[in-house]
Amino acid sequence: MSKKILVTGGAGFVGSNLALTLQERFPKHDLIVIDDFRSGHFRNLEGFKGDFIAHDLSKICLSQLLGKTTFEAIFHLSSITDTTEHDQFKQTYDNVESLRNILKFIAGKKTSLVYASSAATYGIAAGINRLSDPRKPANVYGFSKVQLENLAAQFLREYPRQKVVGLRYFNVYGPRETHKKSAASMTYQLAHQMLAGKRPRVFKHGEQKRDFIYVKDIVEFTIAGFTKAKKSGVFNAGSGKPRSFNDIIETLNKVLKLKITPDYFDNPYPFYQPHTEADLSATKKELKTEPQYTLEKGIEDYFKSGWLTMTPPKV
Ligand SMILES: NC(=O)c1ccc[n+]([C@@H]2O[C@H](COP(=O)([O-])OP(=O)(O)OC[C@H]3O[C@@H](n4cnc5c(N)ncnc54)[C@H](O)[C@@H]3O)[C@@H](O)[C@H]2O)c1
Repeated sequence: MSKKILVTGGAGFVGSNLALTLQERFPKHDLIVIDDFRSGHFRNLEGFKGDFIAHDLSKICLSQLLGKTTFEAIFHLSSITDTTEHDQFKQTYDNVESLRNILKFIAGKKTSLVYASSAATYGIAAGINRLSDPRKPANVYGFSKVQLENLAAQFLREYPRQKVVGLRYFNVYGPRETHKKSAASMTYQLAHQMLAGKRPRVFKHGEQKRDFIYVKDIVEFTIAGFTKAKKSGVFNAGSGKPRSFNDIIETLNKVLKLKITPDYFDNPYPFYQPHTEADLSATKKELKTEPQYTLEKGIEDYFKSGWLTMTPPKV
């Protein structure tokens, strides 16, 4: 029987990049994607040759749906990803129950699980984000991610021999994020303003720093959670190199051969994160993987992919 890998949220930004990379990397495995298209888009999966199950993961019994199928790995990326969705019940129910369903399905099996948590678990704390820092989510999206980590920890106490790896993704950018619209990355937003001939708009004075990570690096961290991590745990997944909004604009100007100056405006938010930065020491040790893309290299590659164009594809 052929080996199987499941990707949830595979019609989404990171999930589709992951599914397409897994297809190349594991050509003999059967790939299955589950997604209910609440934010993802079929166009992201152009070239995908695996099976696709359209279902809301928070509302299905995986054993009923998939029978006795055993997966070698499950990559769980599906989630409400709009952080401005403030419906506490919906955000928490959909995100947490989806993971609960997966854990029920893999309990006692030889399945590695890698799931997406988020830097949103740190809240608005400025500076280096270390795993030992208190988790202080500033919104219900971040709260739901803290609950995923708690649920996974509880599961591991009952099934200590299983491997469950949580990755706190930082700010991801890259191809196949078009469907996210206003929730797409800062690089995406600023590039489209500049491509339309407008001045890129950022809060005064553009020096806020974020840990931006290119999607190809995030995919490598995620696969390493399955192939390289020897033990369970939660790890940061970022570039480890915070960069400013001004840096993005400068890089876009270089790549597009433009000289557009930023349009700075007052920040209306009293609690705006001034700085995020992933501490990667545990990540490097356990996942044995390091980011390969600087902001400059990532933005250049993004343009080469054809996904950052004057007219955004209709998704
Ligand atoms: N992109 C980032 O910067 C970032 C940062 C931190 C964490 N993350 C996490 O990474 C993962 C992927 O995010 P993304 O940026 O690709 O977002 P995305 O919105 O593009 O992808 C999420 C996918 O999950 C699907 N989905 C949502 N709820 C579902 C459900 N109940 N059942 C089935 N499918 C469902 C959506 O339709 C979508 O295709 C998410 O878990 C997100 O929280 C992303």
